[in-house]
Amino acid sequence: MLAAMVIREATPHDWPRMWAFMEGIVRAGETFSWDRDTPEDLARVFWFPAPPGRTFVAVDERGTVLGTANCVRNHMGGAAHIASASFMVDPRHSGQGVGRALGEHVLERAREDGFRAMQFNAVVETNTRAVALWESLGLKVMTTLPEGYLHPVHGYVGLHIMYRQL
Ligand SMILES: CC(C)(COP(=O)(O)OP(=O)(O)OC[C@H]1O[C@@H](n2cnc3c(N)ncnc32)[C@H](O)[C@@H]1OP(=O)(O)O)[C@@H](O)C(=O)NCCC(=O)NCCS
Repeated sequence: MLAAMVIREATPHDWPRMWAFMEGIVRAGETFSWDRDTPEDLARVFWFPAPPGRTFVAVDERGTVLGTANCVRNHMGGAAHIASASFMVDPRHSGQGVGRALGEHVLERAREDGFRAMQFNAVVETNTRAVALWESLGLKVMTTLPEGYLHPVHGYVGLHIMYRQL
């Protein structure tokens, strides 16, 4: 765990330092159900959802952006109390607790915002680090869509829907 990490709301000013590592994750196409060639301007729109959506960055004491997350309303109407969230950590800073800290922060903020549950819509089953992390934060695999994701290395693999009440 990084001693001086702070998680705060992201601003448009942070975007270039976010996209610097987000782009590689998107282009790799191993963990996100985004088109691999998603242009930067569209990625920015996706990543900064309108309220009640929120976008966060984890930064170190020098202001380096280590990772980012967003939280959105996953459904509308009678299911509007269910949130969803997405996460990307700079691979140069992975394995240092940034993802866990972002996950805990997002769950807490979603609870404070009045959401009653968190649903992750598309967790690729080969993304075992993410699956283990989300399970340790109390999310459960509710179902797995068979061959729900075309992985560039593994071919068609399962796609988990993960969920927990807040
Ligand atoms: C998944 C992701 C968010 C995890 O972020 P991270 O900052 O590396 O995660 P953490 O350092 O908090 O570690 C989380 C867990 O991963 C595991 N882990 C950490 N380093 C690891 C490594 N080098 N190899 C395998 N597992 C590792 C550990 O189980 C750790 O749990 P612990 O806190 O009990 O030790 C990050 O790897 C990422 O952005 N991946 C690409 C995008 C993505 O997959 N997003 C999520 C889509 S559902």
